[in-house]
Amino acid sequence: MTANPQFETLAADRPASVARRAALLRDPKFGTTFTDHMVTIRWSSQRGWHDARVEPLAPLSFHPATSVFHYAQEVFEGLKAYRGSNGDALLFRPLENARRFNRSAARMAMPALPEEVFLEAIERLVSIDNGWIPEGQGALYLRPFMVADEVFLGVRPAEHYLFCVIASPAGSYFGGGATPITIWVSETYSRAARGGTGEAKCGGNYAASLAAQSEAIAHGCDQVVFLDAAQSRWIEELGGMNIFFVMSGGVIVTPPLGTILPGITRDAVLRLARDAGYAIEERPYALDEWRDDATRGRLEETFVCGTAATIVPVGSVRAGSGGFMIAQGEGGPVTASIRASLVDIQRGRAPDPRGWNHRVVPPTAGEGVQRS
Ligand SMILES: Cc1ncc(COP(=O)(O)O)c(C=O)c1O
Repeated sequence: MTANPQFETLAADRPASVARRAALLRDPKFGTTFTDHMVTIRWSSQRGWHDARVEPLAPLSFHPATSVFHYAQEVFEGLKAYRGSNGDALLFRPLENARRFNRSAARMAMPALPEEVFLEAIERLVSIDNGWIPEGQGALYLRPFMVADEVFLGVRPAEHYLFCVIASPAGSYFGGGATPITIWVSETYSRAARGGTGEAKCGGNYAASLAAQSEAIAHGCDQVVFLDAAQSRWIEELGGMNIFFVMSGGVIVTPPLGTILPGITRDAVLRLARDAGYAIEERPYALDEWRDDATRGRLEETFVCGTAATIVPVGSVRAGSGGFMIAQGEGGPVTASIRASLVDIQRGRAPDPRGWNHRVVPPTAGEGVQRS
């Protein structure tokens, strides 16, 4: 077994000025602005993980025969650093991202990155780019990813990989924050089948979701929700979020794991909802049941959740087979209270009994990364 790589830091010699950064942080859109640095680590079958660097953010250069361009061996993660009190950064459950990253990598026949190296990469980037964490409603979105960068044509797992982390200050994912969204049910396209890659966070899943997402936009919706591939009947998840149904009588239903992404927000919601006394049912839930429950008043609320959007209510649903409204399109109190509990923990405003927050203290001059 090779030892974990030692990080080298090459600080940007021309970082954004304080004034420029402040202007960019005033109203950050999602995924359009990037910080001064990135992390890169290389893997080869001969050397294992090596050449770990924090370096100035810069374009990457690849040979046209680089295997990710052809066979899409790529996995990624998404997590946020929130601005805590005292100017430090709060990462929400980053170890879960490290674990999911490695499960995704295993599914795509890619090497595992030791969890502690994944965490150190993120801590180092958040620390050096601490000044990029927005105040207020925003957060610093972190995007770790890994691509096969061996130069060859032929269908087999690559023998060289690049792991990289970039960071992007972000505002709300949907322009309206917690305003109810409208979702489109895709009855044409499915996202994942049993034995497929639905549970993995690989780029191919998102490429395959885009035609359905375009269909959603064409129908005036914000997002698409997918049904299962076998029967086109059971609700699975959105293109980038998990989904929950709040029923009358204190019951919350959510689709079971298997072909969906095991969301870290989903897991947090389940725990917070149980703490708040709701009965949880992780079970298949059908489109016709959803429509029926909404129309007859058995369904009180529907919400979607994920790192990017946190928790957002669904106000209405559109589908080729007929749409329906939820809670008069207004959202509801259960969604609002679970969202508030989650956001308060993430931002360090509420007790964190499960130790979900991982604090990263900014370096003082001449000092390396501090961890707690
Ligand atoms: C397909 C899909 N489902 C669910 C989620 C929510 O996962 P998490 O809560 O870990 O962000 C995401 C976001 O990464 C996603 O892309």
